[in-house]
Amino acid sequence: MSSVELQQRVLSGMRPTGKLHMGHYHGVLKNWVELQHDYECFFFVADWHALTTHYEAPYDIEQSVWDMVIDWLAAGINPGNATMFIQSHVPEHAELHLLLSMMTPLGWLERVPSYKDQQEKLKERDLATYGFLGYPLLQSADILVYRAGLVPVGADQVAHVELTREVARRFNHLYGKDPGFEEQAEAAIKKMGKKASKLYRTLQKRFQEQGDDEALETARALIRDQQNITISDRERLFGYIEGGGKVVLPEPQALLTKASKMPGLDGQKMSKSYGNTIALREEPDVVEQKIRTMQTDPQRVRLTDAGDPDKCPVWKLHEVYSDESTKEWVQTGCRSAGIGCLECKKPVIDVVLEEQRPIRERARQYEENPELVQSIIVEGRERARDAAKATLEEVRQVMGLSFGA
Ligand code: TRP
Ligand code: SF4
Repeated sequence: MSSVELQQRVLSGMRPTGKLHMGHYHGVLKNWVELQHDYECFFFVADWHALTTHYEAPYDIEQSVWDMVIDWLAAGINPGNATMFIQSHVPEHAELHLLLSMMTPLGWLERVPSYKDQQEKLKERDLATYGFLGYPLLQSADILVYRAGLVPVGADQVAHVELTREVARRFNHLYGKDPGFEEQAEAAIKKMGKKASKLYRTLQKRFQEQGDDEALETARALIRDQQNITISDRERLFGYIEGGGKVVLPEPQALLTKASKMPGLDGQKMSKSYGNTIALREEPDVVEQKIRTMQTDPQRVRLTDAGDPDKCPVWKLHEVYSDESTKEWVQTGCRSAGIGCLECKKPVIDVVLEEQRPIRERARQYEENPELVQSIIVEGRERARDAAKATLEEVRQVMGLSFGA
């Protein structure tokens, strides 16, 4: 596959933090489930990333990894559509991280906003470590080792994708030009024939001199249409439009995931640290219990007191889950004291249970059959490694490291 075709590859990862909740489902997993139908997807559990902050007590990571994989499968990530694997099963991530570390200026890492923020936030841990400073670069290696084009992430991770782009650019600049690159690119242009060559040069000029992105796109399409040039010539021509060398590591783009609007049981954002979650694989009677005991409008003490949905966390769940007529029923019923709070919660309970039914059914299958989960992860590792090995071979070659191999 050429680097431009690879732009359609999607990669994302999650730290193993234990069992996932409905906030993860609405915020991230539903999005992944959709992406797997449209793109070649790689989703991985970032267990090494967990070590960057939890190196002192790594013993829970393993359980969290398996819980997370089952949660993904339960949410509907389909191993037939997406490759799921565990980061530490693919040592190429570490090799690329090491190689990239040689050419990444220290200042780039010190300036990543999460570096200082997290050190502040996690004061009780000693995060003045090499691994913690380098973890955004590990993330860059995670992405670049698959030459992924699209990286679905939340807003807090966009700076990491930006760093990845800079690192890729620097890498290509340093190592993308084999000796004789320009001569070979010029020869490749001639091979396209008179008309196409002329068009290529015009578009190249328009892009390089005026930054015309349309010209870039058209030139790429032109290259893609060429039948009689080799794959390596094609790669050269892609890189040569931009004035650089070969694109060994294409720059990825962040696919910004909309912030999850999933409210927790107390009306704040659903989050493990607030203790206000409904787990993805919650037992139905626990779901019911949790919603039944939710706080409502504190002014509404008796059934005969009118309430205000704007002051009630249950209303926030209606906003996520209910259709217009149910919302209308809540608004009127609450403000006129025409309905009771338990009555009001009933449709929310029903819809959450209904939403979780297929999730629970899929989860059961995997919980009862750990070998099945194992085999999915082994297969994922194989597919991921094939892709990662291909990149590393090229990386070693352009860096002059393929001697003796
Ligand atoms: N750092 C990400 C987080 O904390 C997880 C992650 C690691 C990741 N490697 C990645 C996400 C590569 C996207 C791509 O959420
Ligand atoms: Fe909240 Fe519904 Fe009770 Fe109104 S009726 S306070 S919206 S639970």
